[in-house]
Amino acid sequence: MPSREQASSSAASKTGVTGFSLPLPYRLFFLVIEPIATLVGAYYAHFAQSRYLELTHAASAPSPIPLGTSIAMSQLANLYFAFALSEALVLRSTSDLRVWKTVLFCLLLADFGHLYTVRSLGYQIYWSILRWNAIDWGNIPFVYLGASMRVEGPETWLEFHKNEFQPKPFGDYDVDIKIECCGVCASDVHTISGGWGEQHFPLAVGHEIVGRAIRVGPKVTLIKEGQRVGVGAQSYSCLDCRQCKNDNETYCRKQLDTYGAVWPDSGVVSQGGYSSHVRTHEHWVFPIPDALPSTTAAPMLCAGLTAYSPLVRNGCGPGKKVGIVGLGGIGHLGVLFAKALGAEVWVISRSHAKEADAFKLGADGFLATSDKGWNEPHVMTFDLIVNTANSFDGFDLDAYLSLLDVHAKWVSVGLPEGDGIKVRNQTFLSNGCFFGSSHLGSRRETLEMLQLAADKGIRTWVEEVPISDKNLSNIMTRLHKNDVRYRFCLTNYEDQFGA
Ligand SMILES: NC(=O)c1ccc[n+]([C@@H]2O[C@H](COP(=O)([O-])OP(=O)(O)OC[C@H]3O[C@@H](n4cnc5c(N)ncnc54)[C@H](OP(=O)(O)O)[C@@H]3O)[C@@H](O)[C@H]2O)c1
Ligand SMILES: [Zn+2]
Ligand SMILES: [Zn+2]
Repeated sequence: MPSREQASSSAASKTGVTGFSLPLPYRLFFLVIEPIATLVGAYYAHFAQSRYLELTHAASAPSPIPLGTSIAMSQLANLYFAFALSEALVLRSTSDLRVWKTVLFCLLLADFGHLYTVRSLGYQIYWSILRWNAIDWGNIPFVYLGASMRVEGPETWLEFHKNEFQPKPFGDYDVDIKIECCGVCASDVHTISGGWGEQHFPLAVGHEIVGRAIRVGPKVTLIKEGQRVGVGAQSYSCLDCRQCKNDNETYCRKQLDTYGAVWPDSGVVSQGGYSSHVRTHEHWVFPIPDALPSTTAAPMLCAGLTAYSPLVRNGCGPGKKVGIVGLGGIGHLGVLFAKALGAEVWVISRSHAKEADAFKLGADGFLATSDKGWNEPHVMTFDLIVNTANSFDGFDLDAYLSLLDVHAKWVSVGLPEGDGIKVRNQTFLSNGCFFGSSHLGSRRETLEMLQLAADKGIRTWVEEVPISDKNLSNIMTRLHKNDVRYRFCLTNYEDQFGA
């Protein structure tokens, strides 16, 4: 029986071209491995797209993903390429027209594939040969880069640029979310302006995210593909320590933030919701009740939870007098939730400017710290005060604390920049009050809060703003000056990042 080398060289000599024997590994690659891989890729791309994305490790895959036909065509083009190249190499027949016709045919086919892809994905974020090829040619490992509005550093914190980013590798418990809207938290300003110290730049902030789950990991049980979901300020904890097992995962020593955190395994820096997509462990992905519009729900995922958790943990309810210091994003949701929980609620603001709004939100009373002797009529009458102030300018702690009843609680959630303020034991002596803080809230609390909001028809007061570099610069400036009533929510993601 003639060997394959002999067969190919005799075929070559029939066409009048000198043959040569291609080393076995090359022959195996061109004639066996590549065609099989290509056909398998084409099969999955066409008939089982979600499996295809799993196989190809598509990070934050766009939705809708490229047409199956476009990938299949490109895969076929790959196949022809492989045959043409192998023929060229085996026969060394660069003058053989048939080889070049095959190459041209495959290029034509590939072009159609590309055109289909561009048509299905839009030009906006796919105008990049690298990603285009990765998506269109179905190369393994497939690398899709998300797009985000990022800041380069604190010196230019009002300049947002659209960049690409690569999320952490897709894990078994991860959910990829195509973002629909995102609230703007004062923490975003503290972070990018450098007020909280060094950060990992370039960085996209935003941690009040609502979008659609477009892909779930094989071990995900809490979220279904296609569900409308939200993500807040936290994206990871060990789920195994004493804190995690007691609904205190927010306080886990291994907790990671939704943006600016370094994932321990991959070293990837997490990017927030001013982006096309976000990838999050299912524990920190929350189904949004149908009754809540997306832009109402988004700000609840950080601001709402930051208010809700200290309220429920510290006995807010009927018969309790609760104060909220600062009527901003967290503060106004604090008023809404404290009211929904049945307490008597007082807003403590710096001036009377927001008084009418406070009553519209449902507050029972309003104190303006600019009034002389503002605290005196209420000394030692409050059961709980949640402080949301994000600065210490002119902050008279003693006057605020004087409002608390014996052993009542002061919980600060605001995180002002700078060195903070000095306290002495004497500060707490007159009423023996407790002085504490609170960080976000647990998954259980998040789900409870969203349900309460849905049941009671609670509505965040939002100013919707289409996401763009100019608008971001503008709203950051306004938020920095406390000029918002009461939460900005970024919208129109498809216009910015493509469908
Ligand atoms: N602990 C957590 O888990 C957590 C989570 C999210 C955010 N935060 C932090 O919470 C703070 C508030 O966030 P936010 O998004 O609600 O901010 P925001 O919308 O800007 O509201 C802050 C409010 O604080 C009041 N305020 C500002 N400076 C003050 C001062 N010197 N003295 C007294 N009151 C002052 C203002 O209310 P008036 O005009 O009514 O006085 C302002 O509207 C930020 O520092 C943020 O980083 C903490
Ligand atoms: Zn926040
Ligand atoms: Zn833990």
